[in-house]
Amino acid sequence: MPGIVVVGAQWGDEGKGKATDQLGDRVHYCVRYSGGNNAGHTIVVNGERYALHLLPSGILNPDCVPVIGNGVVVDLDVLFTEIEGLAARGVDASHLLVSANAHIITSYHQVIDKVTERFLGKAKIGTTGRGVGPAYSDKVNRIGIRIQDLFDESILRQKLEASLDQKNHLLVKVYNRRALDPVQVTEHLLSHAERIGPHVADVSRVLNDALDDDKVVLFEGAQAHHLDVDHGTYPYVTSSNPIAAGACVGAGVGPTRINRTVGIAKAYTTRVGEGPMPTELLGAEGEKLRTDGAEFGTTTGRKRRCGWFDAVVVESATKANAFTDIFLTKLDILTGWEKIPVCVGYDVNGTRHDTMPVSQSDFHHARPIYEELDGWTEDISECRKFGDLPQATQAYVKRLEELCGTRISGIGVGPSREQSISIHDLL
Ligand code: GDP
Ligand code: IMO
Ligand code: MG
Repeated sequence: MPGIVVVGAQWGDEGKGKATDQLGDRVHYCVRYSGGNNAGHTIVVNGERYALHLLPSGILNPDCVPVIGNGVVVDLDVLFTEIEGLAARGVDASHLLVSANAHIITSYHQVIDKVTERFLGKAKIGTTGRGVGPAYSDKVNRIGIRIQDLFDESILRQKLEASLDQKNHLLVKVYNRRALDPVQVTEHLLSHAERIGPHVADVSRVLNDALDDDKVVLFEGAQAHHLDVDHGTYPYVTSSNPIAAGACVGAGVGPTRINRTVGIAKAYTTRVGEGPMPTELLGAEGEKLRTDGAEFGTTTGRKRRCGWFDAVVVESATKANAFTDIFLTKLDILTGWEKIPVCVGYDVNGTRHDTMPVSQSDFHHARPIYEELDGWTEDISECRKFGDLPQATQAYVKRLEELCGTRISGIGVGPSREQSISIHDLL
């Protein structure tokens, strides 16, 4: 039975939440393996909209066990607020499992995230300001706080004192900010211990046992391939590994456990925050895509930058993640354009590139080379079979499939759970 990874193929917000939810009651475990509450996954069920930041989308399916893996950084205040918000709407999270090895985002990580961005000035990354990058820095620096530290008070105090001693020097002397009180931070974290206790588990063992038992385990990516700290448009990236291989590291399963990797790609391109985006449309066309697609961040409410589909970007994600399938989302948003340009290569200072340039500087200078495809005017939001789509829409999907290098197995034609077309079964 499969281990399946769902990965964003562009720069995030492709509709991973909806695609994950689509697999529905056939999924036994739904696992977040990277990122933190920088993610915002929106799912619409029976007209109700759910915005999830830390909990895996499988939480909306009562038969699925939601899991937070060791690769996630957890802000416990956000986690409990999210759980309470769902409880008020009748969604139960009592079966949530959280890895004892997951690192905790604390108040000082949020302060440092915001203050370092301010100091970077024009060179800022445009982070979500949730403390995600600083929490991962501490993890790699071996001065992070893990969920399991909440259950050993003296260790927790020692670790926080050591970590905050360094940080307070930095905050006060470099950034001209107030020092944080280690006692207050410790007490605040300890106040969560009793509540998180029943959820803490050896996630790696649970998932490996489940896979041995022929259960379906879905690893829900956050962020995206091109925001990956190793494979993305560095430094305009997040601080973790959202790629498919990140599921192995961030949940503790071996690579042979992964049977399918599904890339989620929007039928056009969006990006939030800074960094290169060759197909970005700065004028009225970009504004129309933003309005039609309601392209405002789920987490920060920021305007998403919008542009045409960049097949070069998605093809490179297909290669590096070995996508077995692509789920193409928001195709309905493209209704009404007479012609739809698709980027098939770049012009970099007079040289043509058919794949992403090796050098980041070249990518910053990449000018898109477009192929123009025919648009369509028909409303496709009620289509449920590929054959129901207008000819031009079918041709658009087929051309994207050729360019992206793997089959398109599903299509989103609206935000609701049922507004989808299945071409090949993903399970
Ligand atoms: P994620 O972070 O990848 O889960 O994506 P987000 O939830 O941040 O952004 C995707 C947005 O598009 C959400 O508001 C979804 O409800 C919406 N959405 C997802 N799939 C479709 C689709 O096929 N059509 C339309 N119109 N909206 C969609
Ligand atoms: P989902 O899972 C879109 C972007 C931020 C910023 C960069 C670094 O909803 O697709 P960070 O706070 O992670 O240090 O910010 O990454 N970013 C996202 N963009 N969707 C996301 O998540 C994102 N998570 C981070 O805007 O450019
Ligand atoms: Mg999102």
